[in-house]
Amino acid sequence: MKNLLLVTDLDHTLVGDRHALACLNQTLGTLRSRIHLVYATGRSLAGARQLQQEEDLLEPEGWATGVGSALLWCGEPDLAWDRQLQHHWDRPALSALLSSWSDLILQPASEQTPYKLSYELAKPCMGPEAHQFEQRLRATLRHADLQAQVVFSSGCQLDLLPPAAGKGAVTGYLQRKLGLRPDQVLCCGDSGNDRSMLGGPWWGVMVSNARPELLAWWRQVRPDTLLRSHCHHAAAIRHALQTLPLLGREGSQGRAGEP
Ligand code: GLC
Ligand code: MG
Repeated sequence: MKNLLLVTDLDHTLVGDRHALACLNQTLGTLRSRIHLVYATGRSLAGARQLQQEEDLLEPEGWATGVGSALLWCGEPDLAWDRQLQHHWDRPALSALLSSWSDLILQPASEQTPYKLSYELAKPCMGPEAHQFEQRLRATLRHADLQAQVVFSSGCQLDLLPPAAGKGAVTGYLQRKLGLRPDQVLCCGDSGNDRSMLGGPWWGVMVSNARPELLAWWRQVRPDTLLRSHCHHAAAIRHALQTLPLLGREGSQGRAGEP
């Protein structure tokens, strides 16, 4: 019986170190009958499938693409998930509102979906500067009475998502759909768009190569259920599988904490 939902980001988490990935794939191979595997990525489905081919990734049951703005489950679009994204989401109005922002450059059409509006920042920014930018953007949305989640990643990417979307929301949706408890879920990530799932009420692992915006969040919040691994890329996922009390095993620690 499958008693673990493993939701992992792709770029710079699962993918980035071929040796570590091969070792993890070996471990997952032996556990495959017990794990629901889901890839949660900012990429489009086409981009994620291309990466799967290039890097020889295992076939997952679920593809949560476009930062949790689309869900493919066992090869079929999950329409119930799609329906809940429609609430309080006005993509054309958001796009019109931000069209005059010269510091935002629209990402290519391949990265846009009905439930994801994505930009690059003309000038990458981090720390307080990024915080200020985010505040200004949120105030503009409030003023226009428009709702959207604002997700910054890697200092230069900005995604606007429906209030009900995101990697965390899709993880919760799948956990309930599969009838699992939160402690039967493990999420793995490295950047800002992973924050919502790493902050959820389930287990999480942050790779040692995490991006500054994720580290800054972790320093503030330090969730008990989040392992800050000293291993990078796929090795951190293996570390979590070996350390945390998953798959009916008692872990060596009661909480994730720092290794
Ligand atoms: C991926 C997507 C891009 C998105 C970024 C951060 O790179 O291709 O559209 O902005 O992830 O979520
Ligand atoms: Mg990533």
